[in-house]
Amino acid sequence: MMRRDAEPGLIHPVYRAVRLGRADAAAGGHLSTTAGWNQTERDWNFLLRSGQGFGFETEAAQLIASAVVTFYGKEIAWLSMVLVAPEFRSQGIAAALLRHASSLADAHGGALLLDATPAGRNVYAAAGFRDLFSITRWFAPVTARKSGSDPLAKPIPIQALSRWTTWDEVRFGPPRKSMLTALASARPDLALEYVDREGNAHGYGLGRSGRVATQVGPIVADSTEAARALLRSALDRTQGAVICDVVDGSGTMEAELRDRGFAPERPFTRMARGPVKPWGIATGKSLFVTAGPELG
Ligand SMILES: CC(C)(COP(=O)(O)OP(=O)(O)OC[C@H]1O[C@@H](n2cnc3c(N)ncnc32)[C@H](O)[C@@H]1OP(=O)(O)O)[C@@H](O)C(=O)NCCC(=O)NCCS
Repeated sequence: MMRRDAEPGLIHPVYRAVRLGRADAAAGGHLSTTAGWNQTERDWNFLLRSGQGFGFETEAAQLIASAVVTFYGKEIAWLSMVLVAPEFRSQGIAAALLRHASSLADAHGGALLLDATPAGRNVYAAAGFRDLFSITRWFAPVTARKSGSDPLAKPIPIQALSRWTTWDEVRFGPPRKSMLTALASARPDLALEYVDREGNAHGYGLGRSGRVATQVGPIVADSTEAARALLRSALDRTQGAVICDVVDGSGTMEAELRDRGFAPERPFTRMARGPVKPWGIATGKSLFVTAGPELG
């Protein structure tokens, strides 16, 4: 097997620090599938193309740990895919990945943010990350169909997508146009907008196919009414299992999900290291459903 390139600045006393490239999508996918996560090889391809991936391998070039840092503009670095293969845990590997991600964010000049699993949160808290807000992953093996979707929540015309990426930036904060465009082009059927009869924009939603379930999100909206209508309309367009990472505190969204057969699956905590402006990415405001822990 071909050995990977070294990743300068990433250090562990036992394992070899490596840069992950697009050729590593399958090896990364093996790590996330082993952890029971939802990413597909397509997700890994996107992350390794748009972000900086790194990890550790054994002498036999087996990838045993990963992480990806994606820069959203100049002020935010997003950390995802922190995974250590089960038999290599508790050897300080995640701590080493985190130190490296932090130094990349420092060199970039921005804050480092992520959505932590309960296991990850212990590692990040020990490294000085603070909690921003909490998120619950909701899961339904199949979504109950409902009649009467709000006609104002409808597919985004392809030429209107840039309107929404600009609209997103005012609320979410850092720019993430390429990510939103990639989601919309992979699943145009789940790319929805909520525009009132006067033509005023109130929100949009996107989604993507996953390994285990379709992921509905992000949903970014100025009102709970628009967010719920977008959620309903998206759910009516899915088949089979669905997951949805909902920012806690919106009883209306939660009621809609319960009504459709969803139950809470696990919590995430959005965490940060370094100063962040009071943007939606850090406060949760207008961010009813996140794009998932791999994307923010
Ligand atoms: C979470 C995970 C990445 C930790 O990897 P790891 O290499 O075993 O972690 P480390 O050995 O570097 O541990 C770092 C620190 O966190 C602590 N820690 C790690 N896992 C912990 C846990 N489950 N509970 C409490 N503390 C924990 C360690 O004690 C260590 O602290 P110390 O250096 O003071 O001893 C790994 O368990 C994993 O891949 N889990 C599944 C995927 C996942 O949840 N990833 C996190 C995504 S946010």
